[in-house]
Amino acid sequence: MAPVRYTNPNTVYSRIQDEDEEEGFLTVAKEHRATSKAPEYLPTWNRKEKYEPLKFYEHKDPGLKADPALPNLLKKGVVTTKNITPKLGTEVRGIQISELTEEGKNELALYVAQRGLVVFRDQDLASKGPEFSVEFGKHFGPLHIHPTSGAPRTSPELHVVYRRADAKNLFENRNNLVGFHSDVSYELQPPGTTFFTVVEGPEAGGDTLFADTVEAYNRLSPAFQKRLEGLHALHSGVEQANFSKRNGGVVKREPVQNIHPVVRTHPVTGQKALYVNSGFTRKIVELKEEESDYLLNFLYNHINNSHDLQARARWEPNTVAVWDNRRVNHSAVLDWDTAETRLAYRITPTAERPVYDLKDLNTPAESKPYEGPDYKKED
Ligand SMILES: [Fe+2]
Repeated sequence: MAPVRYTNPNTVYSRIQDEDEEEGFLTVAKEHRATSKAPEYLPTWNRKEKYEPLKFYEHKDPGLKADPALPNLLKKGVVTTKNITPKLGTEVRGIQISELTEEGKNELALYVAQRGLVVFRDQDLASKGPEFSVEFGKHFGPLHIHPTSGAPRTSPELHVVYRRADAKNLFENRNNLVGFHSDVSYELQPPGTTFFTVVEGPEAGGDTLFADTVEAYNRLSPAFQKRLEGLHALHSGVEQANFSKRNGGVVKREPVQNIHPVVRTHPVTGQKALYVNSGFTRKIVELKEEESDYLLNFLYNHINNSHDLQARARWEPNTVAVWDNRRVNHSAVLDWDTAETRLAYRITPTAERPVYDLKDLNTPAESKPYEGPDYKKED
């Protein structure tokens, strides 16, 4: 199996650094709660919170309903845009996404699909509180509740990334922690338009890297593209669940594995993208083990290391980055070792079941909890 390097200590409960607040309910230590600039977003983990396996639903992407001229989003004379790279990423100023109309939100979905990543500056979204973000996000698809990560006490739908100011040296056993992934790609219907904002962060560092998997597909030779056609990959949430358990954390929904096409087609843009990532993809199901490792390692190397198909988002206060999880892989950059907290949250609307051919869009399927030797439900 291609190497699995899923270790994001900033999303799971850690029995070393966090503490029990009351029976079954976990929270960060008192000293961190006392000094937090945004305590309403601090992660909590409720041991009693349990969810059923996710069920198939028909996804109609809001981007399909958008006016392609984007009149409600990029208002003339009011909004300014600046591309981060020619093909991937745009920085936008002059509009509050929290005030978008239904039409404006549809246009946002389309624009994010087209640009892969859109970075909105000077936003008031986080200041409106966690519940507002939840309601806002629902327009784009049913919100994903993460099986292991912490969430604000009021809003289980938000996924919190939290690094404590006294975090231990993450590089003790690793040379780097770059880990490109597409969020929760193990789900039957992984996310589409995805929102992320840092509510408290270091003065320098903690950027996010994005790799354009449409461009990565387009760079392949026609013969290689042809070879990938019809291949499928297994994506797994098992290691993430085990990682949380090992840290004394929660598993709110039993882990799943799902099989998706290696090349997926975007329902709004019609573009093909490579849909594998070193965080969650485990195997090409049609190939033998060595062949699968060989191919996946080639694709990971191609996506993760081709800096000429990547963009970097720099966080300023009140920045909201929106990416299309079907179009980009991304990685945190954990490059600061100052005693500074980083508290961020994600709104994660789910989207369609990935397909190679759009004629297969919204074909029902079932996602069952993993049963096998690598995961024990109770231990
Ligand atoms: Fe992520």
